[in-house]
Amino acid sequence: MVDGKTEILGVMGDPIKHTFSPAMQNAGLESLNLNYIYLPFHVKPNGLSQAIEGAKALGIKGLNITIPHKTDVIGLLDEIDSLASMIGAVNTIQFIYEDGDGGNVLTKGYNTDGYGCLRAIEEETSVKNKKVTIAGAGGASKAIAFQIANSEINELSILNRNFNKAESLVDDLKTNLAKLDIDINVDAYEIDCLKRELSDSDVFIDTTPIGMYPNVDDKAIASANLLHEDLVVNDIVYTPMETSLIKEARKANAIVVPGYKMLLYQGISSFEIWLSHEAPIEEMEKALLGALGI
Ligand SMILES: NC(=O)c1ccc[n+]([C@@H]2O[C@H](COP(=O)([O-])OP(=O)(O)OC[C@H]3O[C@@H](n4cnc5c(N)ncnc54)[C@H](OP(=O)(O)O)[C@@H]3O)[C@@H](O)[C@H]2O)c1
Repeated sequence: MVDGKTEILGVMGDPIKHTFSPAMQNAGLESLNLNYIYLPFHVKPNGLSQAIEGAKALGIKGLNITIPHKTDVIGLLDEIDSLASMIGAVNTIQFIYEDGDGGNVLTKGYNTDGYGCLRAIEEETSVKNKKVTIAGAGGASKAIAFQIANSEINELSILNRNFNKAESLVDDLKTNLAKLDIDINVDAYEIDCLKRELSDSDVFIDTTPIGMYPNVDDKAIASANLLHEDLVVNDIVYTPMETSLIKEARKANAIVVPGYKMLLYQGISSFEIWLSHEAPIEEMEKALLGALGI
């Protein structure tokens, strides 16, 4: 029950009506009997700065930040975690109230998207010393690529329809992670290149929106004959859960990681940043699947 002592968490985005985070986060808060509530906030781009200032004035304890604010919010925060800074996007803000609610407020930004994807994959296999191939070079790909490249892998290949964008992401990774001994390369978005990269990959992550509702009949980025039994296949699209790629992966007897797991674990990580308390994964997963209608 909400009372005078209830603390506030939430998510800011534009649009926001579609968000599944309140169902997942409130289930976690309730199961631990924490006097917190997690709310959706519809914030237009021209209102972002006021919204962050308002959050401080209201004593809000933590926020998720979603499209289209993940990059613009960086300039409004006091401190940015080093990985979020390399990625150039923040999806989680921690508000630290010095000397209680009336004192100074310190805002720190994190990016838990890549962590979410990595943890989902590591439920099936460790990425250490492995080869990972990523399709797509947009916002989600960037967060995932930086996290994965920082996880003791051996090789990372990125393919994208717009080759220049993939090249620029690979340059960015090489510049920021020069001290790591990883083979990072870019390949063309062509069937032969995908076939070559996947033949010796251990993990394949599709970060394109191919197959996402309502385009559920889109042809999968890779058909079963390009996949193999030892390959972990993760499609980060989570509506529907059984995307065209996941169906092809099942035909190939590959190891499947559904897209909702990334959403789950990015939320788990945010929860733990705000509350310094282990998140109740089972309850949050059940609520997320319920909200997704699965
Ligand atoms: N599971 C999760 O928690 C989670 C989190 C974030 C995002 N997502 C999902 O991930 C997807 C991508 O999100 P984003 O923010 O990265 O989007 P984005 O920044 O717009 O990037 C989309 C990427 O997909 C490529 N692409 C788009 N349509 C394509 C097509 N028809 N054929 C081949 N490539 C195509 C784009 O290639 P070009 O550069 O050539 O245009 C670009 O590299 C969305 O479906 C989103 O819902 C899931």
